[in-house]
Amino acid sequence: MGKTVWIGDVQDGLHDEQTVELKGWVKRTRGSNKIRFIVLRDSTGTIQCVGKRDVLGDEAFESLKGALIESSLILSGTILVDERADGGHEMTISNVKIVGSVDPERPFPITESAMAAADGGETEFLLDNRHLYLRTSRMTTMLKLRSSAFGAIHSYFRGQDFIEYQAPNFVAGAVEGGSTLFEVPYFGKKAYLTQSWQLYAEAAMPALERLYTIAPSFRAEKSRTRRHLTEFWHAEMEMAWATNDEIMNHGEGLVRHIARTMLDEHSPELTSLDRDIERLALYADSPYPRMRYDEAIEILQGKGVDVEWGQDLDYSKEKVLTQDFDLPHFLTHYPKIAKPFYHRVDPDDGNYVLCHDLLAPEGYGEIIGGGERTWSEEEILKRIDEEGTPRDPYQFYIDVRSYGGVPHGGFGLGVDRVISWLSGAEHIREVIPFPRDSRRVTP
Ligand code: 4AD
Ligand code: MG
Repeated sequence: MGKTVWIGDVQDGLHDEQTVELKGWVKRTRGSNKIRFIVLRDSTGTIQCVGKRDVLGDEAFESLKGALIESSLILSGTILVDERADGGHEMTISNVKIVGSVDPERPFPITESAMAAADGGETEFLLDNRHLYLRTSRMTTMLKLRSSAFGAIHSYFRGQDFIEYQAPNFVAGAVEGGSTLFEVPYFGKKAYLTQSWQLYAEAAMPALERLYTIAPSFRAEKSRTRRHLTEFWHAEMEMAWATNDEIMNHGEGLVRHIARTMLDEHSPELTSLDRDIERLALYADSPYPRMRYDEAIEILQGKGVDVEWGQDLDYSKEKVLTQDFDLPHFLTHYPKIAKPFYHRVDPDDGNYVLCHDLLAPEGYGEIIGGGERTWSEEEILKRIDEEGTPRDPYQFYIDVRSYGGVPHGGFGLGVDRVISWLSGAEHIREVIPFPRDSRRVTP
């Protein structure tokens, strides 16, 4: 009996010729009545393990033979270096323990052929079995990339002296417009699930000056697109005294840092997804161009897209716009009528607001929305009334401005969208373990 080791370390050559113990799950199994080949998987990698009847004895050999795909096993044996084996190593099994067996009447349903039948997309069958689908190599890779992105967001903001701050998820009003609000019964009253941390962050801005969060946000998005979830992970920041340009600098810095971290931590995984590493390096190293909304409208109209000045850009338009971009682009100065009340009106031209969206290239579109905030009490009241929004739910937000209001701003980044773009996923569903959309809250 050797000590328990990670398969990843074995494949890295850390245990050559040693007798060790591996704990894992059966990924594939084949063989005859005399010899079994088990590809064992743990969270760090896979390795082929070979069991022979004449070494193991009949009883242990029979239990190994009965171990179906996704059974959990503890195998002891010797690690051999073998150029022909996947990863360059193989284990000769000397001892077998079946920990969790799989019923032959109910074999593991997520087979290669079930995935091939889904043809790259995800059928309802795979979504129904999401709790099992998580174990496939593609999904495991996505979850590792996801973890890398979350780590990068924390390290970016903490490295810039931002303070992590939490806002409530039950709220009384909309941030991003009423049409995507989820209403929940709340002890005889109505409450809503938050669309954004922003308004509560603005309340703490005079206390903390630079703050950030990573939290779920909720949007009752009825349309099912490749980039919309009803529950998504939102990285948001708020910053005192900051201009639109300074906020964009942080948005750019953050996205580049996420791309760099993913490359540093997971280049082989990105390559296994057929992602072009050179392209990602460009996203990590290059400054992102900035253009005004008006220019984007001209480009779109030049391409024959039916779009009018004053419209917010929906996915179909951003897709056309960003198809030929080789880098993310900031669009700034949207028309006031296209954006919610909290956006600060441009003092140089009252038709525009000092805001930005960051659009990812390759047709992915918006990944960040942000800008300067309407910061005086007088102006916020004017904007709320102009929009025809009731003042009541925003009383605290108005109050904050009456006691030493200062210019400030921030942004929100859709974490799932960024991971989807950087990993080259076809659909945002591919990068979140249990995706939520208008048709699905299970499993
Ligand atoms: O552009 P949005 O709506 O802006 C806000 O919520 C601001 N209050 C943020 C702020 O300034 N603090 O959302 C921000 C980002 C979008 O750019 C997008 O990446 C993501 O959140 N997002 C979604 N991601 C997945 N599914 C959805 N339904 C999303 N809605 C927004
Ligand atoms: Mg937006």
